[in-house]
Formats: sequence, C-alpha cells, structure tokens
Amino acid sequence: MEEQLDLNPNSVNELSESSLPPLEDDDTPVLSSYALAALQEFLSSEQSHSDAGDSEVSLVSEDWRLSQFWYDAETAKTVAEEVLTLSNGVDSRVACIACPTLYAYLKKMDPNVSVQLLEYDKRFEQYGSDYTFYDYNHPEDLLSDLKHSYKVIIADPPYLSKECLEKIAETISFLRQPGESFLLLLTGEVQKERAAEILGLHPCGFKPHHTSKLGNEFRVFTNYDPGTRLGGWEK
Ligand SMILES: C[S@@+](CC[C@H](N)C(=O)[O-])C[C@H]1O[C@@H](n2cnc3c(N)ncnc32)[C@H](O)[C@@H]1O
Repeated sequence: MEEQLDLNPNSVNELSESSLPPLEDDDTPVLSSYALAALQEFLSSEQSHSDAGDSEVSLVSEDWRLSQFWYDAETAKTVAEEVLTLSNGVDSRVACIACPTLYAYLKKMDPNVSVQLLEYDKRFEQYGSDYTFYDYNHPEDLLSDLKHSYKVIIADPPYLSKECLEKIAETISFLRQPGESFLLLLTGEVQKERAAEILGLHPCGFKPHHTSKLGNEFRVFTNYDPGTRLGGWEK
C-alpha cells in the first residue's frame, strides 16, 4: 500500500537524539540552545492559539496522531465567508468533511446555517446532531439521510495520499446533491494533479495557513470558478 504522508510540523520532525539536553555533573538536565529555541517556539504557538481562541472560536487541542492541524483565524474566516456566499439565500445544506475549525467558524458567523460535520474525532460529538462519525476508510458507511443532500461540500483529508483522496471522493459523490454543487478541497499543493484527475478541481490563489507551521504548502481547490474570491482560479 502507498505510504501515507502526514502533515507533521517541521519543528517536531527535526528533534533528534543529538538535540537531547546534556547532563551536568549532578545529573540535572539542562536544555541545549537548540532545544530551548524549539520549546520557546512551541510555547509561543500554543499562546497564539489560545489567544485566537479567546477572541475567535474555541477549539479542542490538536491531536497530531490524527493529523490534526487547525486553520489560523484568517484562513477559517476566508473559507467560511466563501461557503456562506455559496449557500446564501438558498436553502442549501453544507457538509464539512474532516474540517472541524471551518464548522465552528461557520456556526459563529451564521448560527442559522445548516452544516453537518463528518469527522473521526469523537470529541466533536459536542456539536450534537450536527456531528457524524466518519472514517474515510469506510467512505459510504453513512446514514442514508445524508445521501445526495448537500449542495456545498468542503473536505480537508487527513493524509496526502492517492488512496485517501480517492476514498474522500467516494464520500463526496455520496453526499452531493444532483444538479449544481460546489466542492472545495483544502489540501497540500502536492495533490494538485490528483485533485484535477479524481475530482476535476482547480487551485485558487488563496493559500490556507495553520496555527502550527507545516512543511507542506496548502491550497484550496474548487470545482467552480470563484471569480475574484479566494484569490481567483489559477489558470
Ligand atoms: C488535516 S486535518 C484538517 C483539519 C482542518 N485543517 C481544520 O482546521 O478544521 C485532518 C482531519 O482529519 C481527521 N481525521 C483523522 N483520521 C481520520 C479518519 N480516519 N477518517 C476521517 N477523518 C480523519 C482529523 O481528526 C482532522 O480533523
């Protein structure tokens, strides 16, 4: 099977045995300057995340084992505005596949919007009936109520593999309503060819960012021309 590329932040990958703190004579560990800098970077990122939570929306902490990296506030607001523009004035239901931050911002920006969050992490059961447990390995293992019911679908897959994208695409086919529907895929730039091949999506100019620094550049791909929104379609 194809190796799953995950999205771990660089700073964590770079920690190695050689960066372990030296021991002093009394065996009291002291941090090397490298480890201290890494710790300070981590604490500062945690602080900015918690500051954003105070003024924006509160999110559960990221679990990197589940490939969880939350959007920064500007990214979450920009994508939420786009989704609200697409669903504006129409009784259209929105499905968020594996993007809980977007769900939280959508509900904050318009509490009346109809959004279903499909997500593996059961901590999001806190969203009540708006939450559906979802494992991309079982792409159509979903209640029939959800079938062909969504006009706007946004997905942010946990892995940068062809297999993961193909399975998420199966879920999108299950969820999308007949006729016109709007798809947004947020994922690594490295998925550009596959996003076009599997889902017919094109990249937009807007670059999503996360509260943690990631080694991969992220893009938004859409199946519709956003005009000047989201930085326009890259032709
Ligand atoms: C790259 S993150 C996307 C989160 C997005 N950036 C946000 O801020 O909302 C991937 C998401 O996939 C979820 N996930 C992890 N394993 C999964 C699985 N087996 N099936 C479906 N989703 C999964 C994670 O919990 C996480 O929310």
